[in-house]
Formats: sequence, C-alpha cells, structure tokens
Amino acid sequence: MGAMLERLAPIGRDPETGGYLRDAWSDADLELREWFAGEATSRGLDLREDRNGNLWAWWGSPSRERPGVVTGSHLDSVRQGGAYDGPLGVVSAFAALDLLKERAVTPSVPVGVACFTDEEGARFGVPCMGSRLLTGALSPDRALGLTDDDGDTLAEVLRRAGRKPHETGRDDETLATVGTFVELHVEQGRGLVTEGRPVGVAGAIWPHGRWRLDFRGRADHAGTTRLADRDDPMLPFARMTLAARQAAQRLGVVATVGKVRVSPGSANAIPGLVSAWLDARGADAAAVRELVGEVSGEASEVREESWTPEVVFAEALRDRLARVAGGDTPAPILPTGAGHDAGILAAAGIPSAMLFVRNPTGVSHSPGEHAERADCEAGVVALADVLEDLCR
Ligand code: GLV
Ligand code: MN
Ligand code: MN
Ligand code: MN
Repeated sequence: MGAMLERLAPIGRDPETGGYLRDAWSDADLELREWFAGEATSRGLDLREDRNGNLWAWWGSPSRERPGVVTGSHLDSVRQGGAYDGPLGVVSAFAALDLLKERAVTPSVPVGVACFTDEEGARFGVPCMGSRLLTGALSPDRALGLTDDDGDTLAEVLRRAGRKPHETGRDDETLATVGTFVELHVEQGRGLVTEGRPVGVAGAIWPHGRWRLDFRGRADHAGTTRLADRDDPMLPFARMTLAARQAAQRLGVVATVGKVRVSPGSANAIPGLVSAWLDARGADAAAVRELVGEVSGEASEVREESWTPEVVFAEALRDRLARVAGGDTPAPILPTGAGHDAGILAAAGIPSAMLFVRNPTGVSHSPGEHAERADCEAGVVALADVLEDLCR
C-alpha cells in the first residue's frame, strides 16, 4: 500500500500548506480517477463507470442474481484536506484484494472496489453526491442545477468532463450488483486512541445537515456612511455565529460556520450580502433542528442544502466485522459525526458497514490528518479478513 499512497501524495497537494485541493471533477480529481483506472486494469479487474461517475473495479462479474461484496471509499477531498480521508479506503481496498489473491482465496461471489464521486460536497455543497444520486436520495434535476463558486452548474462541469448529464440519476442496474458494502476510513476522532486499538467498527452516524443562510443589507461607503444610516449584514451574521456556538453547547450538539461569502467583498465597503454555510450535527436530530431554527431568525433566506438522518449500521453485520477484524477481542464499536457513502447505501437498504483506522491526533479535514503506516497495514489485514469472511 506504501507505493499507492506515495503515488497519490502529490496529486492536488498545495505545496504551501501540504493540504489537498481535490474538488470533484477538477484536474486533480480527473488524475485520481485515472490512477484508479490504472490500478484496476493492472490487476485485471473489470473497470466500470456508472451513470453518476462512481467507479467500480470488479474481480468477477456481478449480476442481479449474483451481487458482489464491495469495498472502497472516495478520492475527492475537502479544501485543504488531509491525505487519508477517502484515499485510505480506496488504497486499502486494492491492497486487501491483493492480499486475498496472495492467500489464494477463491471468492464465492464477485468482489469489487468502489470509488464514489464527490463525497465531500466541497464544490457543489451537497455531500455524498455520487452515492445519493446512485440510490435516488438526491434528484438529478436538483443535482444538475447546483452551482460551484464560479457559477458553473454540475451539468456544465459534467459535460466538460466528457460525461452525459442526462444519464444522471438512480441506477438500479448498478445498485443490484452491490450485495454488501464495507468502507474503510481513517477515524476522525480519538476513539481508537482511547481504546488503544488500531482498528474499530462504526456503530452509527449522527444525523447531520448543511444550511445556507443569506443576510442581506445595503452596500455603502465604509468611510462616509454614518453608523446610524447603515444596514450592515455582517452584524446579524456575527450574532448568528455566536448564537450557534451557545446553542450547540446548551443542546449538546455541534455547529460550524466554515464557509462565508461576503459581497461585494471590498475592505472599504459595507457589504450588501453575507452568505454563510452552517453545518450542524448531533446524536439527537431534534436538537440539531432546534439549533438551526433558533439561530436563523435574522437571516433573509434560509436554504437547507442537505439533511442526512441518523444511520445505525445493522447490528449483525457490524458485530460480524467487529469479531473478524478484532482478532482475540472484538474491535471497538464507535459512533461518528462524519458522513460517509456507507451511510447513504445503508439508508438505501444495502447491507453496509465500516472499519475505522486509528488517527493519532484525531484531526481530520485538515493537513494535520494522519495515520501510522503500521495501523494502515493492520487496517488492510482486517479488511481482507472481513472480505474473506463475507465472500466465503
Ligand atoms: C464529510 O466528510 C463530512 O462528514 O462532512
Ligand atoms: Mn471527509
Ligand atoms: Mn471521507
Ligand atoms: Mn465524509
């Protein structure tokens, strides 16, 4: 796996910060997709791209009658993201297949490696776009009309990448090939550090959502407009941000404003519009919604960009993974506040589960994200054991 991680390391990397810029369908993403194709074909796997740009590399030929066991994750990143969120799952998937071949395992069902498109939603605002479109959780009309920061729609971006936007949407033919899905992911927290274990299993994904809040005011001169005459949208925006922090504390959830657009964006002009993206999550969906309702009162417009209900991974499969991946003592089962394609597939009724690999600091969505090589290797062995168990 070392060689694969090294090959991926420079793609989309900002030399100044060490962070990754791997927006869906950007040049970096296209290069990552090429890399995936190369890894698939060099292993003699059957490479397919579905109607929504998700990539599949099959060992064997899945069909409706004989669906496969699939593992994988995503290759896109948040802006200035780390090297592991997503890619570790894809690299580990190929490495686990190699290990199965070394062990001379003959799977009774096809085994696939998947790479989902635009998991992070960094470019168009909606996370897990590839898996949501695949399962029908997101309508193609809504998705194709979403715009990036340059004002380009997904439809235009897909066309430029040589894809066929009109084919986007629920893809029953592809879904029918997926019997079980297992996603390996770097842990985005310190649960495994606390447990003193290299590998864990996901129990549940918190309900979470993203909202865009627009605060409108009146643009005017920063020097000549008297304070009494101003309508400055930066003030209600600032009140909202502080209120979100206080409400999160009180309600026992988390809330983040990680993206803000100020228009027109001149240092010497009062803004006319502040758009803020609020991300809120927590174990209790009602508390998350209560927070959003409570803090958005001063916004001129509130738009829910995405909402993902709680996902509780099926107990039997989850416990089976914990047993197989844990060795002598079952692997710990951990909840998470991060969204994943495995959660979208689980919600669509596909038996799905996740393995987590220890992250020494717990930092993620930042260049500081890390996993020790020995733990990554333990993750591959655990994943291979799980695949062997599932396709026996
Ligand atoms: C995606 O990684 C998310 O949980 O925001
Ligand atoms: Mn992520
Ligand atoms: Mn991820
Ligand atoms: Mn994620």
